[in-house]
Amino acid sequence: MTEPKRKRILSGVQPSGKLHLGNYFGAIKQHIALQDEGECFYFIADYHAQTTLGEAVRLELEATREAKRKPRTGAQILQENVRDVALDYLALGLDPKKATFYRQSDVPEVTELAWILGTVTGMGLLERAHSYKDKVAQGIAASVGLFTYPILMAADILIVRSNVVPVGQDQVQHLEMTRDMAGYFNSTFGEVFPLPTERLDVAAKVPGTDGKKMSKSYGNAIEIFAEGKPLKKSVMGIVTDSTPPEAPKDPETRTPYLLYKLFATPEEVADLGQRYRAGGMGDGTAKQMLLDKIEAYFGPFREKRKQLAADSGYVEDVLRDGAKRARVETEKTMAIVREATGLAH
Ligand code: ADP
Ligand code: TRP
Repeated sequence: MTEPKRKRILSGVQPSGKLHLGNYFGAIKQHIALQDEGECFYFIADYHAQTTLGEAVRLELEATREAKRKPRTGAQILQENVRDVALDYLALGLDPKKATFYRQSDVPEVTELAWILGTVTGMGLLERAHSYKDKVAQGIAASVGLFTYPILMAADILIVRSNVVPVGQDQVQHLEMTRDMAGYFNSTFGEVFPLPTERLDVAAKVPGTDGKKMSKSYGNAIEIFAEGKPLKKSVMGIVTDSTPPEAPKDPETRTPYLLYKLFATPEEVADLGQRYRAGGMGDGTAKQMLLDKIEAYFGPFREKRKQLAADSGYVEDVLRDGAKRARVETEKTMAIVREATGLAH
């Protein structure tokens, strides 16, 4: 089939909680920059989020029992998370006129393709998936949906015949599996799918407040849209050792410096590094400098988010319009797939 002229870029984000600096510098910033480089499809993976929704409901029950408030239902949790992540992306600069921005469950062709891909996917391929093994190791109940998660992800990618998929290192194996599935399909039914490649997000691991990789599951995240006291609390709570302020320090071992680097100009970074090395620079001062940078950088995005959130129909309109545009492509792909597999009648 004829390839689209501009390269197609696709990525998905799970609606599973508040986004943090690791998500921003590791993924979102690149997604937004790529809007001008190709034809972008970005979606909110709410079918994928179903694999962990049971766990979210259990956590909600625990949290509300302690706080004595009414627990939200699974449906409420998912819908709030979808709206939150959509608002976050839109406030941070995703332009729905440039990128096709949609909710996965508004594009039902994805699940149809996932079924067909499942029939050309060996059990062995899925059994090797790190993400599945990791989630089971974390104690998440092993549902069939969790096991077949990579097939749904391959369907997301192949349904719009994407060429490039910007992802973090943890998703690279899923891209390899997607290429395998596309290859099995093409060799059985004819050349339908281009083989997509990953584009690795550039930011190395953004450290969390405890110095380990920032992650919502480790409780060490600094949220992008936190402000006021909670933001101050998480920045001032960055764990540092008790080296006295007077002692010279290697800046690369200081979490406040590593985070400051993400926001500051090269001159400002060099200057702070120099002050650490010279001695007399305490981590508390660096934390305050970091806090000022976070405020200056994300302040305007916060204002934008508040404006967008005040318009109650905005997110829904954007997502529905995005799905309409996405479905022009997904319907095309499915027509070819049905023809090739004998399901067209
Ligand atoms: P979390 O670890 O908080 O659950 P996700 O796994 O949902 O985050 O990650 C979503 C995206 O953000 C992925 O592309 C991932 O590579 C990126 N990301 C998450 N945490 C970091 C981090 N600490 N440093 C760099 N990138 C990150
Ligand atoms: N699995 C990805 C994650 O957890 C989210 C995702 C779902 C995705 N489908 C995708 C990413 C398709 C890229 C392409 O981060």
